Amino acid sequence: MLRLHELTMRFGALNAVDGVSLSVGEGERRALIGPNGAGKSTLFAMIAGALRPSGGTIEFDGQDVTGLPEHRRARRGIARTFQHSSLFAGLSCAENVALAVRARRGLGMRAWLGSGRNMDIKREVTGYLDLMELSEERPAGALSHGEARRLEVAMALAQQPRLLLLDEPAAGMSSAESARFAELIQNLDTTLLIVEHDLDVVFAVASHVTVLASGKVIADGSPAEIKASAEVERVYLGTAKEIWC
Ligand SMILES: Nc1ncnc2c1ncn2[C@@H]1O[C@H](COP(=O)(O)OP(=O)(O)OP(=O)(O)O)[C@@H](O)[C@H]1O
Ligand SMILES: [Mg+2]
Repeated sequence: MLRLHELTMRFGALNAVDGVSLSVGEGERRALIGPNGAGKSTLFAMIAGALRPSGGTIEFDGQDVTGLPEHRRARRGIARTFQHSSLFAGLSCAENVALAVRARRGLGMRAWLGSGRNMDIKREVTGYLDLMELSEERPAGALSHGEARRLEVAMALAQQPRLLLLDEPAAGMSSAESARFAELIQNLDTTLLIVEHDLDVVFAVASHVTVLASGKVIADGSPAEIKASAEVERVYLGTAKEIWC
């Protein structure tokens, strides 16, 4: 579904992403891990279309999308989680997701979820909220940090993405919240690319793990294979979390 070939991003003298080639198959849940500054967010920004690569190509569904702007990639099915600032604090969870559904359908930005022809929108909204275990009526401004992150995922799901990019979705969650979040994410049937420092979440969610350091892929394998090598690191360098964070 996604094929990166020799993808490179240079910021002045810095090769933030340095010749990364990788493929993500349909239905895969791929985690991208690595230390701070490894280039993970930069890679995401290039895949989403927010940053133009200095070199290399990005193929999505067999087509070269390297030159496509972000909104056209979104239309083809690449979605990123919305930032916090895009949640309307005064609107309910359902109204926030309804806005995302309406935007996808090309309808006006009206959050009202009354009767009549809005019923199919309401059904769709309820589906996304159920997947993320959120109640419809709660105002977004009253959500806990973890709930707000889940609402962002629900809004991204409203785009009906084929590839969902999540950059540190569990950051700031308690360990109970992140464990539940990992379970919810596993149930999604979208192809997933997730950057996450919380290795418990990574190993719970991922079907495949890629390790990035200094802009380069340094390891790639099943969670078990990567876990084994992280264990080795743990023996020599302390806990895995200290290595990656
Ligand atoms: N717009 C920019 N201009 C210049 N340098 C940048 C820019 N964006 C990122 N960088 C640099 O590129 C490198 C990779 O940054 P990036 O944010 O992709 O890392 P990361 O792996 O996401 O790190 P973290 O785990 O801390 O989120 C860093 O050295 C960073 O300072
Ligand atoms: Mg980052």
